Amino acid sequence: MSNYITTPIYYVNGEAHIGHAYTTFIADMMARYARLKGEETYFLTGTDEHGQKIEESAKKNGKSSQEFADEISALFKNLWDDFGISYDQFIRTTDAEHKRGVQKAFETMVANGDIYKGHYEGHYCVSCETFFPETQLIDGEFCPDCGRTTSIVKEESYFFKLSAYEQKLLDYYDAHPDFILPKSRRNEVINFVKGGLNDLSVTRTSFTWGVKLPESMNDDKHVMYVWLDALLNYITALGYGGDEERMHFWPATMQLVGKDILRFHAIYWPAFLMSLNLPLPKHIGAHGWWTRDGEKMSKSKGNVVLPREVADAYGLENFRYFMMREVPFGQDGDFSQRAFIDRINSDLSNDLGNLLNRIIGMSGKYSDFSIDSVDVAKYHTRELEEAHRILGGLESYLDEVQTHRYLEELWKVFTIGNKAIEEHAPWVKMKEGKTDEALATVALVANLLAKASVMLHPFMPQTTATIADALGFTIDTAAYNRLIAEKALLEPFVIKKVPPLFPRVEEPLMPEAPKAMIEEAPKKAEAPKKEKPEAKSDEAPGLITFDKFFETSLKVGTVVEAEEVPKSKKLLRLQVDLGEEKPRQIVAGIKEFYSAESLLNTQVCVVANLKPAKLMGILSEGMLLAAKDDEGLVLIRPESPRKAGSSIG
Ligand code: MSP
Repeated sequence: MSNYITTPIYYVNGEAHIGHAYTTFIADMMARYARLKGEETYFLTGTDEHGQKIEESAKKNGKSSQEFADEISALFKNLWDDFGISYDQFIRTTDAEHKRGVQKAFETMVANGDIYKGHYEGHYCVSCETFFPETQLIDGEFCPDCGRTTSIVKEESYFFKLSAYEQKLLDYYDAHPDFILPKSRRNEVINFVKGGLNDLSVTRTSFTWGVKLPESMNDDKHVMYVWLDALLNYITALGYGGDEERMHFWPATMQLVGKDILRFHAIYWPAFLMSLNLPLPKHIGAHGWWTRDGEKMSKSKGNVVLPREVADAYGLENFRYFMMREVPFGQDGDFSQRAFIDRINSDLSNDLGNLLNRIIGMSGKYSDFSIDSVDVAKYHTRELEEAHRILGGLESYLDEVQTHRYLEELWKVFTIGNKAIEEHAPWVKMKEGKTDEALATVALVANLLAKASVMLHPFMPQTTATIADALGFTIDTAAYNRLIAEKALLEPFVIKKVPPLFPRVEEPLMPEAPKAMIEEAPKKAEAPKKEKPEAKSDEAPGLITFDKFFETSLKVGTVVEAEEVPKSKKLLRLQVDLGEEKPRQIVAGIKEFYSAESLLNTQVCVVANLKPAKLMGILSEGMLLAAKDDEGLVLIRPESPRKAGSSIG
């Protein structure tokens, strides 16, 4: 059996967060599991480096696209290296072999009659690198995936005949019910395909940072659409279009992705593969999204959880355990330090750590640390059988990536161990002179710990190696075969004392996330009450310094769009040009005093560095200055028009 396991390749427009770490941990665990069983395994991860989004990010940072991609890609690679991620290859879409493979695939698609030239006009979201039909846009303008403004793009383009694959895809889903995991996501994909597939624009002329078309096309205006380029990484990594050295790993056994990119992997990717006459992956596993303390993570909120910070604070393997234990695969998960600490203290410290400490303590007292399995079967057949039944059933959970169920079941083995100690009370048996019985219980627990450690190894490789070392063996395929497949018991050994593996955690070890954003509409459209500045002894109380005042960024803006917020008596939703890359969305409580139309193309004064807040669920990225008295409210505006973005002060 050979295994090929992949993660998505990560965009190089920002550093890794816990969402990326989650996929990578699962893929690493699955690769380690397969290797533990002695199966041939190839594990691929890497970075997705082309496209308009990266080109723009590089420009903003004053770097060339290649320089920028090199830097961020290295951040990902270093992180995975420091985390001991056991990838076999880290692919970069800027690798020469990859580019050659993509060109080869394009040529093959052309030869198979799946590519034609035409024109594309549509709503494009640069951030998601995706075109959306108008019907899917929010308010006819915003991207349904990320909420950012889309723009209309019209350009000459080559198209992939995706529509020709509609029925073939539906037939494939039908014949392979476990192609999409979890199965609950299957219908979503099927319905999308049944809704009709448009041909896919697969080249762009509006930017240059991408893979060029093959020379045989004789058309250097175009570069490949980033998703065509990116998806093909899964085969170019195996040498497709070149030496094909590792193509025997294809088809992939498990391709892990986040739910937001399932469509690309479960529809476009299979269609591309069909066009290339290659078999389809066995499984596409789509996981949910991680939030922090119930909030979506975003750079602007400053609440992104960085994997290194978590690992430094709580330990890398505890982190791996928490992520894979906490959330049913496919569902969204919440990163809360409270939940994490509970897992460490209860599962790891109490259930697992204590069990090891107890047998170190007891064997020290009763047998000078020697442990012999000779009488285990005699006194503990029931416990052994139960444990073997559980251990033997674990793999089935991995078939559907149910890591939380796997770990939940595995933990029952520790419960058997802890219960056996309570029930058989070796200290009582020792007093009664039943030394064999007492030592058999200690040895039972040592065996349970050893077997459970083997099965926990893919999740917590270092910790389980330490436990195995204490128990006188090494975790490898031979140990898997003996202890799990053949259900053999440990050879006699002398247990080693180890320092506590899971010290209890009492307090959160990382700074808490910034305060949750306000969700309700404010009562009045008035400036927020500033905190009273603390009066220093030489300052008049209640007065602020110049510096303090200039902490507030006030700017002139032009209202480029205005509309009423449905169901709200007070709110208008405005798009205000502040001279930035794109207009800011500002939700203002001024509907009683201004109609939306009357504001269009007028100027306003905006507090531009206010923390974004949600008003009736709509993100507001600033606040308008207004004055109010008994007669009503008026906006504060410049006396004569100023350039959008001019600063006030
Ligand atoms: N480059 C594409 C993938 C191309 S694969 C041929 C891409 N990159 S990404 O960096 O934006 O996202 C990579 C993965 O991270 C996706 O699977 C996405 O679902 C996942 N996540 C991004 N934010 C996430 C969370 N908050 N939580 C969990 N996973 C998240 O898309």
